[in-house]
Amino acid sequence: MKIYAAKDYNDLSRKAANIISAQIILKPDAILGLATGSTPVGAYKQLIAWYEEGDLDFSGIRSVNLDEYKGLSGEHDQSYRYFMNHNLFDHVNIDKENTNVPNGLAEDAEAECSRYNQVIRNLGGIDLQLLGIGGNGHIGFNEPCDVFEKGTHVVTLTEETRQSNARFFSSIDEVPTHALTMGIQNIMSAKKVLLLASGEAKSKALYDSCFGPVTPDVPASVLQLHNDVVVIADEAALAMIRENTHWEGSVYDN
Ligand code: GLP
Repeated sequence: MKIYAAKDYNDLSRKAANIISAQIILKPDAILGLATGSTPVGAYKQLIAWYEEGDLDFSGIRSVNLDEYKGLSGEHDQSYRYFMNHNLFDHVNIDKENTNVPNGLAEDAEAECSRYNQVIRNLGGIDLQLLGIGGNGHIGFNEPCDVFEKGTHVVTLTEETRQSNARFFSSIDEVPTHALTMGIQNIMSAKKVLLLASGEAKSKALYDSCFGPVTPDVPASVLQLHNDVVVIADEAALAMIRENTHWEGSVYDN
């Protein structure tokens, strides 16, 4: 994996958007694996700006999102479908029919997970998977666990994750307890992975993920086994890596 240092969140967002836009230009019918959370918002804003300037065309792009809260409809303003529409899809010329997010309201959640695995297979796999990282090292909603779950599955969210996502809801009680998420095999099958980390709260999870043992206890650590991972992190998120590796440069080949 290659770790790139960004000066700050703005720099991180521009670097990430550059990589995503290169993918769109090089393969106009690319399959993008997309992520939610506050981290990718700046990159999405930059992509929208480049689209508005006429530099990007999303008309052939297909997308699959990592995850969705169980029990929220796509119209709920905290659902990940709503997030994607609001932060990217409504502002570019992507065909919404070509965008996929798990259905949080599916009556049979297990069947919805199988359907979602099939959607990814039918698309022929993901070209570029964008990821954020949870403070506990989760990717998508793959929480620390005893085993790496392979396919899309239903998860019980940890208290830590519910607490940290509570900032988007009016109270912790409203944060769903479960989610549907792509599994580790879905993510690891992507041709290229782009992981973004911003802020001091991610520093330990990022260090453990990049330099610690590969363990389902730190789900992002599995990325050490992927052969094309780009990590972009701002200085706050890099703090622990800087401290432990004495790396002072801007690119670290790990
Ligand atoms: C959620 C999402 C993850 C995301 C994480 C971090 O739990 N399921 O995909 O990476 O939050 O979010 P943020 O970027 O807001 O810190």
